[in-house]
Amino acid sequence: MIGCSAGPLATVLSLEQVSYHPATVPRPLLRQVSMAVRPGETAVVAGPSGAGKSTLLELVAGLIQPGRGRICWQGNPMDRRQRHRRCGLVFQFPERHFLGLTVRQELQLGQRRLTEERLGAVLTQVGLNHVPRQQPPERLSGGQQRRLALAVQLLRNPQVLLLDEPTAGLDWSVRDSLLTLLGQLRTGRVLLVVTHEPKLFAPLQPRCWRLQDGGLEPYQEEQPVTIKPA
Ligand SMILES: Nc1ncnc2c1ncn2[C@@H]1O[C@H](COP(=O)(O)OP(=O)(O)OP(=O)(O)O)[C@@H](O)[C@H]1O
Ligand SMILES: [Mg+2]
Repeated sequence: MIGCSAGPLATVLSLEQVSYHPATVPRPLLRQVSMAVRPGETAVVAGPSGAGKSTLLELVAGLIQPGRGRICWQGNPMDRRQRHRRCGLVFQFPERHFLGLTVRQELQLGQRRLTEERLGAVLTQVGLNHVPRQQPPERLSGGQQRRLALAVQLLRNPQVLLLDEPTAGLDWSVRDSLLTLLGQLRTGRVLLVVTHEPKLFAPLQPRCWRLQDGGLEPYQEEQPVTIKPA
């Protein structure tokens, strides 16, 4: 296997010269984009609407395949299946994609052997253990629905959580408590957030990139405010 260049410090997740150009568009959506995330880091990719942020996450998650380049884990290129297994993707407005009639059903989808213990543990992890499991997901509050979408992915034990505009459409207090939860969830895994509001994620002390015109450039976000304890 040919390794991706890992840089001065070991990286966990890295993209190397990744390009994506669907046949139906005149210009590549992503042009030789590279980024490297080190153990314990959170990554934020900022960019305006249409910049290709969601496309980038779909590539990392293994939903689509780059035309060129490699996506690596600890220096080793991953194929689509490996990326799919390693990553949990929470779409923008994930509540629009709920399929279960109840909270329990939503969590059980695609989980053949989900024990009560595991179900309870993941609901506790996202702060939803007090919610009746027979409750329809659409009856949850906006913030609770985001927590449920995170729980669905956490059940898969992803080493990488890919979050597409995780705070979009939430009011500030709900946003703050979701950020606190994200601060907890990054322990032991990589968080890769795409957003057009990168400042909101400063409390997570992320490494930042800007995606524009198909290119990805690192930049320094303003110094963070310390995240509040749970
Ligand atoms: N498979 C595809 N074929 C053609 N065009 C595509 C394809 N996938 C994405 N696009 C186009 O690429 C552009 C980038 O889309 P993408 O959804 O990744 O942007 P975004 O940065 O997530 O935008 P937003 O902030 O609005 O969510 C859009 O113009 C979209 O229509
Ligand atoms: Mg998007």
